[in-house]
Amino acid sequence: MTDQAFVTLATNDSYARGAMVLGKSLRNHNTSKKLVALIGPQVSEPSKSVLERIFDEVKVVDVLDSGDTAHLAMMKRPDLGVTFTKLHCWTLTDYSKCVFMDADTLVLSNIDELFDREELSAAPDPGWPDCFNSGVFVFCPSMETHGKLIQYCTEHGSFDGGDQGVLNGFFDNWATADISKHLPFIYNLSSISIYTYLPAFKQYGGHAKVVHFLGKTKPWSYKFDPRSQQITGSVHDADTHSTFLVDWWILYSSAVVPMMQQQYGDQPFHSGCEEFQSSETVTFQSEQVEILSSHSQAQAPEPEAQMSAEERKEKWEQDACWSGAAARSTAWVYHTELLD
Ligand code: UDP
Ligand code: GLC
Ligand code: MN
Repeated sequence: MTDQAFVTLATNDSYARGAMVLGKSLRNHNTSKKLVALIGPQVSEPSKSVLERIFDEVKVVDVLDSGDTAHLAMMKRPDLGVTFTKLHCWTLTDYSKCVFMDADTLVLSNIDELFDREELSAAPDPGWPDCFNSGVFVFCPSMETHGKLIQYCTEHGSFDGGDQGVLNGFFDNWATADISKHLPFIYNLSSISIYTYLPAFKQYGGHAKVVHFLGKTKPWSYKFDPRSQQITGSVHDADTHSTFLVDWWILYSSAVVPMMQQQYGDQPFHSGCEEFQSSETVTFQSEQVEILSSHSQAQAPEPEAQMSAEERKEKWEQDACWSGAAARSTAWVYHTELLD
């Protein structure tokens, strides 16, 4: 389908890395749709060139910033004013239907079936499930809708200072009008559910099709040792999303870093990959974490992003995938208590 596309956004080089991994994950799972990246003028030339190799279309757009520091402060995310830039996606009128995906999402199996859904389809937000999360949504490009959205921003602003507040205000009957517009949570599985409802994560997490690394700490905030396949660096908010984070890094280090290195040539490029040093492994001062460390050192995780849905499910059932998450979850609670 040439008039249907997956669309993402990156206003800077950090989010551009996320966009590259997302694009690669969609390609690896043989999407038949076009891939479009909206980028801000700040994205560097080498990053833009790599995006152009992965995506069918890379479009430079003006960065829109809500400038709404008060609401953004409530989310502790002053950086998210620029997510208003997402609204440009409605101007992509060469396409009749699109699926927007945040640059911090990773696709685990083919999700082309999302194009059977109508505007505006999205999954519930884990923080307030009567709102949809705007990290993954189905929409129909239209200059008319775009104009109305911009007008809505001018008249009402956003209750969270970012695009999600605007979109939930604009598509305000999402929660009640039409259940077919509620995407199953497996199309936007956010890491927060590991902490908030671990048994459900254990039960259903193996079916995940899209992982969303929602929150301040992103996969690219960490470092990674490709040889041992371990996340390294000092991690303080325990945002280690079981094996999904490793999946992201395996794809990034194997498929994206070589392309970036090629673009940088002789110029230094800091990929975030490093040689393994045991003292730098993610550690927390709690007993449970020893379980986690011994597990992750005993067996390097499989590159799950390459598995079929069936294989992934089987591995999930046999494996310590979710119990690793349990150890991390306990560690997270423990650590939060320490901070408090
Ligand atoms: N984004 C961007 N530059 C920024 C912040 C956000 O390009 O400085 C885009 C990017 O696509 C990102 C999305 O806006 O995935 C939403 O931001 P983020 O994922 O950080 O929000 P969260 O999902 O953590 O609430
Ligand atoms: C949310 C969404 C993100 C959005 C942000 C700001 O948490 O995950 O996509 O940009 O809120 O509204
Ligand atoms: Mn996000």
